[in-house]
Amino acid sequence: IEVLVLHGPNLNMLGKREPGIYGRMTLEEMNARLKEVGKMWGLKVHAFQSNSEGEIVEYIHQADERYDYILLNAGAYTHYSYAIHDALRAVDVPAIEIHLSNIHAREPFRRMSVLAPAVIGQIAGFGYDSYELGLYAIKKAVERKV
Ligand code: DQA
Repeated sequence: IEVLVLHGPNLNMLGKREPGIYGRMTLEEMNARLKEVGKMWGLKVHAFQSNSEGEIVEYIHQADERYDYILLNAGAYTHYSYAIHDALRAVDVPAIEIHLSNIHAREPFRRMSVLAPAVIGQIAGFGYDSYELGLYAIKKAVERKV
Protein backbone atom coordinates (compact mmCIF):
# COMPACT_ATOMS: atom_id res chain seq x y z
CA ILE A 1 0.00 0.00 0.00
CA GLU A 2 1.51 3.29 -1.18
CA VAL A 3 0.72 6.40 0.86
CA LEU A 4 1.38 9.95 -0.29
CA VAL A 5 2.03 12.27 2.66
CA LEU A 6 1.75 15.79 1.28
CA HIS A 7 2.74 18.82 3.34
CA GLY A 8 1.70 22.25 2.14
CA PRO A 9 3.03 25.79 2.58
CA ASN A 10 5.26 26.78 5.51
CA LEU A 11 5.46 23.23 6.83
CA ASN A 12 9.12 23.15 5.77
CA MET A 13 9.59 25.64 8.64
CA LEU A 14 8.43 23.18 11.30
CA GLY A 15 10.70 23.07 14.31
CA LYS A 16 11.25 26.82 14.31
CA ARG A 17 7.83 28.06 13.14
CA GLU A 18 5.59 29.07 16.08
CA PRO A 19 6.71 26.09 18.18
CA GLY A 20 4.05 26.89 20.80
CA ILE A 21 1.46 25.96 18.19
CA TYR A 22 3.22 23.50 15.91
CA GLY A 23 5.78 21.87 18.19
CA ARG A 24 9.53 21.47 17.94
CA MET A 25 9.73 18.48 15.66
CA THR A 26 11.10 19.22 12.18
CA LEU A 27 9.45 18.03 9.00
CA GLU A 28 12.35 15.64 8.38
CA GLU A 29 11.86 14.07 11.83
CA MET A 30 8.13 13.72 11.22
CA ASN A 31 8.63 12.11 7.84
CA ALA A 32 11.23 9.70 9.22
CA ARG A 33 8.85 8.63 12.00
CA LEU A 34 5.94 8.26 9.62
CA LYS A 35 8.05 6.05 7.36
CA GLU A 36 8.99 3.83 10.31
CA VAL A 37 5.45 3.55 11.63
CA GLY A 38 4.14 2.95 8.11
CA LYS A 39 6.63 0.13 7.64
CA MET A 40 5.32 -1.63 10.76
CA TRP A 41 1.81 -1.39 9.35
CA GLY A 42 2.62 -2.46 5.79
CA LEU A 43 2.28 1.07 4.41
CA LYS A 44 4.96 2.62 2.23
CA VAL A 45 5.13 6.34 3.02
CA HIS A 46 6.23 8.80 0.32
CA ALA A 47 6.52 12.30 1.78
CA PHE A 48 6.70 15.61 -0.09
CA GLN A 49 6.40 19.26 0.86
CA SER A 50 5.49 22.17 -1.38
CA ASN A 51 4.84 25.85 -0.83
CA SER A 52 3.05 26.14 -4.14
CA GLU A 53 -0.62 25.49 -4.74
CA GLY A 54 -0.05 24.36 -8.33
CA GLU A 55 2.58 21.84 -7.29
CA ILE A 56 0.25 20.41 -4.63
CA VAL A 57 -2.44 20.06 -7.31
CA GLU A 58 0.07 18.20 -9.50
CA TYR A 59 1.11 15.82 -6.69
CA ILE A 60 -2.57 15.00 -6.20
CA HIS A 61 -3.02 14.32 -9.93
CA GLN A 62 -0.01 11.98 -9.91
CA ALA A 63 -1.50 10.13 -6.98
CA ASP A 64 -4.03 8.54 -9.33
CA GLU A 65 -1.26 6.45 -10.90
CA ARG A 66 1.08 6.04 -7.96
CA TYR A 67 -0.63 5.97 -4.58
CA ASP A 68 -3.47 4.25 -2.75
CA TYR A 69 -4.12 6.92 -0.11
CA ILE A 70 -3.25 10.55 0.54
CA LEU A 71 -2.57 12.25 3.88
CA LEU A 72 -2.77 15.95 3.18
CA ASN A 73 -1.87 18.89 5.37
CA ALA A 74 -2.52 21.73 2.95
CA GLY A 75 -1.58 24.42 5.51
CA ALA A 76 -3.36 27.72 4.90
CA TYR A 77 -4.56 26.51 1.46
CA THR A 78 -6.99 24.38 3.46
CA HIS A 79 -9.06 27.45 4.07
CA TYR A 80 -9.44 28.79 0.53
CA SER A 81 -8.01 26.59 -2.21
CA TYR A 82 -10.84 25.44 -4.44
CA ALA A 83 -8.13 24.23 -6.82
CA ILE A 84 -6.91 21.69 -4.24
CA HIS A 85 -10.51 20.76 -3.43
CA ASP A 86 -11.16 20.12 -7.13
CA ALA A 87 -7.92 18.14 -7.52
CA LEU A 88 -8.97 15.83 -4.66
CA ARG A 89 -12.29 15.30 -6.42
CA ALA A 90 -10.58 14.69 -9.77
CA VAL A 91 -8.69 11.58 -8.62
CA ASP A 92 -9.84 8.21 -7.34
CA VAL A 93 -7.51 8.25 -4.35
CA PRO A 94 -9.08 8.61 -0.90
CA ALA A 95 -7.55 11.42 1.14
CA ILE A 96 -7.44 12.32 4.83
CA GLU A 97 -7.07 15.95 5.92
CA ILE A 98 -4.43 16.49 8.58
CA HIS A 99 -3.68 19.47 10.84
CA LEU A 100 -1.14 19.72 13.62
CA SER A 101 -3.18 22.34 15.45
CA ASN A 102 -6.87 22.30 16.29
CA ILE A 103 -8.03 24.60 13.50
CA HIS A 104 -11.42 24.92 15.19
CA ALA A 105 -9.95 26.50 18.32
CA ARG A 106 -7.92 29.25 16.61
CA GLU A 107 -8.70 32.30 14.49
CA PRO A 108 -12.15 32.19 12.86
CA PHE A 109 -10.65 32.01 9.33
CA ARG A 110 -9.07 28.62 10.20
CA ARG A 111 -12.38 26.99 11.13
CA MET A 112 -13.43 26.72 7.54
CA SER A 113 -11.90 23.95 5.46
CA VAL A 114 -12.84 24.00 1.79
CA LEU A 115 -11.12 20.61 1.48
CA ALA A 116 -13.27 18.85 4.07
CA PRO A 117 -16.09 17.93 1.62
CA ALA A 118 -13.53 16.18 -0.63
CA VAL A 119 -11.83 13.95 1.98
CA ILE A 120 -12.77 10.88 4.03
CA GLY A 121 -12.22 12.77 7.27
CA GLN A 122 -10.19 15.34 9.13
CA ILE A 123 -7.73 14.88 11.99
CA ALA A 124 -6.67 18.06 13.77
CA GLY A 125 -5.12 19.10 17.04
CA PHE A 126 -2.72 16.28 17.93
CA GLY A 127 0.54 17.72 16.62
CA TYR A 128 2.69 15.11 14.90
CA ASP A 129 0.26 12.46 16.12
CA SER A 130 -2.41 13.86 13.78
CA TYR A 131 -0.37 12.36 10.93
CA GLU A 132 0.21 9.09 12.76
CA LEU A 133 -3.52 8.83 13.50
CA GLY A 134 -4.15 9.42 9.81
CA LEU A 135 -1.82 6.54 8.97
CA TYR A 136 -3.66 4.42 11.51
CA ALA A 137 -6.97 5.24 9.81
CA ILE A 138 -5.47 4.03 6.53
CA LYS A 139 -4.20 0.83 8.17
CA LYS A 140 -7.73 0.16 9.49
CA ALA A 141 -9.31 0.91 6.10
CA VAL A 142 -6.92 -1.51 4.40
CA GLU A 143 -7.67 -4.22 6.98
CA ARG A 144 -11.41 -3.80 6.40
CA LYS A 145 -10.90 -4.43 2.71
CA VAL A 146 -8.80 -7.61 2.96
C1 DQA B 1 -2.19 23.87 9.72
C2 DQA B 1 -3.29 24.88 10.13
C3 DQA B 1 -3.42 25.97 9.09
O1 DQA B 1 -4.42 26.89 9.48
C4 DQA B 1 -2.12 26.72 8.96
O2 DQA B 1 -2.22 27.70 7.95
C5 DQA B 1 -0.96 25.81 8.72
C6 DQA B 1 -0.87 24.55 9.45
C7 DQA B 1 -1.93 22.83 10.84
O3 DQA B 1 -1.29 21.82 10.54
O4 DQA B 1 -2.34 23.03 12.00
O5 DQA B 1 -0.04 26.13 7.95
O6 DQA B 1 -2.63 23.17 8.58
